[in-house]
Amino acid sequence: MRVLLVGSGGREHALAASLSRSPVLDTLFTAPGNPGTALFGTNVAIAVDDVPGLVAFALGERIDLVVPGPEAPLVAGLADACLVAGIACAGPTAQAAQLEGSKSFSKAICDAAGIPTARWERFDDAALAHAFVRRRGAPIVVKADGLAAGKGVVVAATVAEAEAAITAMMEQSSLGVAGASVVIEEYLEGDEVSLFALCDGETAVLIGAAQDHKRIGEGDTGANTGGMGAVSPPAFFDRATQEHALDLLVRPMLREMVRVGTPFRGVIFAGLMLTPEGPSLIEYNVRFGDPEAQALLPRLRTDLLPALVALCDGKLAQADLRFSDDASVAVVLAGRGYPGTPAVGSPIRGIDRAEAMTGVRVFQAATAYDAAGSLIGHGGRVLTVVATAPTLMAARDAAYAGVAAIDWPDAIWRRDIGVRALQRALDAAEEFGVSA
Ligand code: AMP
Ligand code: GLY
Repeated sequence: MRVLLVGSGGREHALAASLSRSPVLDTLFTAPGNPGTALFGTNVAIAVDDVPGLVAFALGERIDLVVPGPEAPLVAGLADACLVAGIACAGPTAQAAQLEGSKSFSKAICDAAGIPTARWERFDDAALAHAFVRRRGAPIVVKADGLAAGKGVVVAATVAEAEAAITAMMEQSSLGVAGASVVIEEYLEGDEVSLFALCDGETAVLIGAAQDHKRIGEGDTGANTGGMGAVSPPAFFDRATQEHALDLLVRPMLREMVRVGTPFRGVIFAGLMLTPEGPSLIEYNVRFGDPEAQALLPRLRTDLLPALVALCDGKLAQADLRFSDDASVAVVLAGRGYPGTPAVGSPIRGIDRAEAMTGVRVFQAATAYDAAGSLIGHGGRVLTVVATAPTLMAARDAAYAGVAAIDWPDAIWRRDIGVRALQRALDAAEEFGVSA
């Protein structure tokens, strides 16, 4: 098969690595890709949201399957354009991608399908939004309705904070049109985890679960980022609970999407809170997470490519998708200064040293080659060092040994990836008298 992968992050490097293990893959292109994806195929200089450019390339190269990484091309209609061109695309139509693109769309689907989620209201009018938070009190959550690149959510501890968010988003257009209307919802407490599944419109097949570490600082402090690390699976979210969450939060969504005439085909990423009352949906994303994919995909034991084809053909019920019971820990190395302006241009050495360690892989994101041919840091999130091992503790040790093998003067990373999950595993072990 001839495959076009779309994206340029660590997620796409991990996808390229998984796809390239398939005996049915002939040729892999990645648009625009990065030095990591170039290890498995050919990078082509087409931007992720250049839908006509991607489709023209796919037609010219007789591509059999397009695999979208990020949400932007999907929201921009990549799957729709592929459909018209007769090319299979393992992602949702623009309408179905509204599950991620519009908070109010996804909340309305949840309500219609009876999916547990925080109670919410949508506002177009700032004065009404202000009055609502004053009436409801804090903590409360204010969300830009549209896509805001991870910056659209304010978890407000006080009414003043919530009102400041409303003022910024609705009155000062801090997020452009994305914040012209807001969703205000009840604050949920619990452990936050992410659930991943492949969906073919009617059938959802579990991939697994992960826990992201979104803040820049250790102990979950400081600014929000794209994600500084992930563990898979979170120790307190076992396979049976994951299946239960899939029944509760994903399968009813698929039925509702069919009912409203926009079946969902693609990767669903359900962000959820494990509350004392059970799992509650925080949001849907219509793609793999980054860095969650880097933690999940190395655990895959079966061929990803036929499963993605089955997703496009509506035949997921017959697909073989199995994952090892190993744990994995993914640590992101970012350029100093991230999530502000990162330091760029300094050389990265030692990836081969890290990858020589048992179970360790290094995925590249914002890397580049300088004029002298040295690999350098070239943006915010630059590398993900991932280790898989039979226990979470061993995976964590191996991941940090991998990080230590990398010599890159501008690197910053969190030293506590997996600590929370490990603590939960140790608590459970104490309770049940088993080893973590
Ligand atoms: P989202 O973009 O919807 O994933 O929101 C970003 C982050 O805000 C989530 O990952 C949660 O940590 C937090 N968050 C969103 N909604 C809620 C909620 N209703 N209660 C508590 N935290 C939330
Ligand atoms: N790591 C969170 C995301 O990919 O949206």
